Amino acid sequence: MNYNTCFHLLLALFISCSILCLAMTVRNLNSDQFVLLEFKDHIADPQNVLANNWTASTSVCNWIGVSCGILHKRVIALNLTSMNLRGTIPPHLGNLSFLLSLDLSSNHFYGHLPKELGQLHRLRTFRLSYNRLNGEISSCLGNLQRVRRLKMKNNNFTGTLPETLVNMSNLEILNLGFNQLSGQVPSSIFKISSLKIIDLCSNSLSGSLPNDMCRTSSQA
Ligand SMILES: *[C@@H]1O[C@H](CO)[C@@H](O)[C@H](O)[C@H]1NC(C)=O
Ligand SMILES: *[C@@H]1O[C@H](CO)[C@@H](O)[C@H](O)[C@H]1NC(C)=O
Ligand SMILES: *[C@@H]1O[C@H](CO)[C@@H](O)[C@H](O)[C@H]1NC(C)=O
Ligand SMILES: *[C@@H]1O[C@H](CO)[C@@H](O)[C@H](O)[C@H]1NC(C)=O
Ligand SMILES: *[C@@H]1O[C@H](CO)[C@@H](O)[C@H](O)[C@H]1NC(C)=O
Repeated sequence: MNYNTCFHLLLALFISCSILCLAMTVRNLNSDQFVLLEFKDHIADPQNVLANNWTASTSVCNWIGVSCGILHKRVIALNLTSMNLRGTIPPHLGNLSFLLSLDLSSNHFYGHLPKELGQLHRLRTFRLSYNRLNGEISSCLGNLQRVRRLKMKNNNFTGTLPETLVNMSNLEILNLGFNQLSGQVPSSIFKISSLKIIDLCSNSLSGSLPNDMCRTSSQA
């Protein structure tokens, strides 16, 4: 093989690799876009916050409430707090696989938490307080082992606290106050060593709770 052939071979290799990488970025970005457009279709947006902003003609990274990673340009945060949004949470959100932070608090989301949210392995912050979510808290939340802040206060969750929460080994703040949870609080939850604040006020839970359990009830 002479020098020229070798050079052309390398060049060809380089070009096809670049195209492949580009294709991967585009495809992944498109899959995040697909998820968010699906989400938009799923909900009512009476103030048209998303209507004219979340459009396929601009990158998801420029959409209101959306933040992307600097290098990989995947969606890492979704913050749609206080936008008067109404609807159920679609299972598609579980496909935002690079998400670190999800904040849908202070809206009018109702219905069940889709178990697919348990696929968000990178998630650290999870805020759904002040909505009207109901049903049981899915045991799949136990898969979210990196979550530090789980705030789902002021909803309408029923049933018991899943045992699997004990697997959220990085949890610092657990706020489930003002719901309709019942049954025993699994004592294993208090063994999560990172836990600093736990608010289960105003539920129908039983079990032996530390006395200062309600002290932090002003936290949203
Ligand atoms: C969408 O909203 C963001 C943040 O407010 C803004 O920077 C962007 O220009 C808006 N895009 C469009 C197409 O209106
Ligand atoms: C979401 O945005 C609001 C302000 O618009 C801010 O107060 C809140 O801390 C943000 N949530 C997260 C998880 O960063
Ligand atoms: C995302 O998730 C939904 C439901 O969980 C699934 O039907 C869909 O095929 C997934 N893929 C993409 C690209 O959103
Ligand atoms: C919560 O659930 C109860 C019983 O299912 C219902 O009566 C009440 O209206 C619900 N509250 C909200 C805020 O959705
Ligand atoms: C916690 O996770 C481990 C390993 O993923 C699993 O075997 C165990 O059953 C989980 N514990 C609970 C209480 O879900």
